[in-house]
Amino acid sequence: MDNRKKGLEDVIAVETKIAYIDGIKGILAYRGINVADLMDYSYEEVSHLLLKGYLPDESELSDYITTLRNERELDSGVIDILRICNKQADAMDVLRTAVSYISQYDADYNDNSVDANTRKAVKMIAKFPTIVAAFYRIINGLEPVSPDSELGHGANFLYMLKGTRPTELEAEIMEKDLILSAEHGLNASTFASRITASTLSDIHSAIISGICTLKGPLHGGARLGAMNMLDEIGSIDNVENFVEECIIAKKRIAGFGHRVYKTYDPRARVYRNLAKELSYEDAENGWYEIAERLEDVVNREFVKKSAKIIYPNVDFYAAVAYKYLSIPAQLSTSIFALGRVAGWTSHCLEQYEDNRLIRPRAKFIWRIYDK
Ligand SMILES: CC(C)(COP(=O)(O)OP(=O)(O)OC[C@H]1O[C@@H](n2cnc3c(N)ncnc32)[C@H](O)[C@@H]1OP(=O)(O)O)[C@@H](O)C(=O)NCCC(=O)NCCS
Repeated sequence: MDNRKKGLEDVIAVETKIAYIDGIKGILAYRGINVADLMDYSYEEVSHLLLKGYLPDESELSDYITTLRNERELDSGVIDILRICNKQADAMDVLRTAVSYISQYDADYNDNSVDANTRKAVKMIAKFPTIVAAFYRIINGLEPVSPDSELGHGANFLYMLKGTRPTELEAEIMEKDLILSAEHGLNASTFASRITASTLSDIHSAIISGICTLKGPLHGGARLGAMNMLDEIGSIDNVENFVEECIIAKKRIAGFGHRVYKTYDPRARVYRNLAKELSYEDAENGWYEIAERLEDVVNREFVKKSAKIIYPNVDFYAAVAYKYLSIPAQLSTSIFALGRVAGWTSHCLEQYEDNRLIRPRAKFIWRIYDK
């Protein structure tokens, strides 16, 4: 009997209390709260919600923020590692290397208890933005900027990246970006993290598995693909030709399609509004107009071709927002990881709590091997 589902499509592999997704109705909820309703919270509150299962009260939030902000700084050893990394390296590879280094010096290195794993999770959430910003500054011949404990998670990242405090709108968009990227059920990178955790390996190793998996162009790497695509299209007049060429060459359009959503990705809907807001502030660049036209043409052409709509996913309008924020394209996937680390670590904690080794089977295909 062959009960395979290629790509494990629709297969239920684990039970989770972290995210609920309805791909038909286009619903995403973190711990029971619709993601659109979390837009007025901070990333710090949302990461607490994911990790601990509830939104913190005032005093819990204050303690959590203090811990997170105290953990942002990198020790000089990490900065030295960043300085010797290949300047042409993908930021995701550098993030992976930095996490690997950090893990070896963690005060809880040999402790895999729930408390130690929660502490390690919080430290990773705190340090990821500092690592990515510091690496970007080093490869551009600039000194890393120390974190500013007065700034929220998103604003502080932009500050460490650019060396100047972001505007209120820029800070707000980055905060929302991190919230929207924070969690998405059993996506490929979260599954990879959970598989590693299920062997009872340590949480840093599990998160490195997630980083390596997010990098691929069919997953988090699509954000980079979508930014490059917007550059390639360049003007609203080129949209029709671009889509036609993709269809003829059977080329995938970055930032469109989704394994789970058969309707509009609810995150793309929020990002779309954010990108539109940014477009009002920047009349010179027409990224939003190009994106809107691209969405219309892709819809029209795919309905014509296969009677089905291919909707934009989270990466498409995130890419548009990044263009307005002048986020370097080479950092786009790693910024996704700054948000997603809260989801990955929450899933690892859940996996450790009720673990069974994840170990599916492969169906062997008989064939005669030629010498
Ligand atoms: C995300 C993705 C891998 C999901 O794929 P999936 O569930 O495995 O769907 P499939 O690859 O089986 O594609 C189903 C059909 O839709 C088409 N399709 C899906 N996404 C497409 C895209 N972005 N551009 C063009 N065609 C696409 C496929 O060609 C296929 O057509 P066919 O049935 O005529 O062969 C896919 O949509 C994709 O490659 N998107 C681009 C990368 C991306 O944005 N990834 C980020 C996801 S959050």
